[in-house]
Amino acid sequence: MAVRNRVEVMHGVNLSELGRRDPEHYGELTYPELERQVGEFGRELGLTLRFMQTNHEGAFVEHLHRLEGMTDGIVLNPGAWTHYAWSIHDALELTGLPAVEVHLSDVNAREEWRRVSVIRDLCVASVAGKGIEGYREGLQALRGHLEVP
Ligand code: DQA
Repeated sequence: MAVRNRVEVMHGVNLSELGRRDPEHYGELTYPELERQVGEFGRELGLTLRFMQTNHEGAFVEHLHRLEGMTDGIVLNPGAWTHYAWSIHDALELTGLPAVEVHLSDVNAREEWRRVSVIRDLCVASVAGKGIEGYREGLQALRGHLEVP
């Protein structure tokens, strides 16, 4: 069987501003540092990661449209879109790919509106409240679904 180890790591709105967002929820890490650390987790797990971040919902949706044949799975943190952007739900569903949802903060222990996730039903796992380590957990969960040797 061909190795399925390509993972698209997608970040949405306001994640570009990590480092100057509330450190109580998001830590001190900047977005470039996050990419570097998550990239390291990927290498340790034998996964080939590709990153994208956008603050434009349409760009996020169109990126999902283009993933067919380009990757084997998706790790996504859509930021606030998680809680209401059904366009992202539908585009993620269209990919047909295994996906894992990751949030740095504990979305279930914050405001009521953050408890809703429009993508959770499409994801093989959801990780929240574990900071950067949550990405390692998310990648591990996805790896289980990709049957990486
Ligand atoms: C977030 C949680 C969201 O509620 C918030 O809007 C974000 C980041 C997280 O990683 O904890 O922008 O997705």
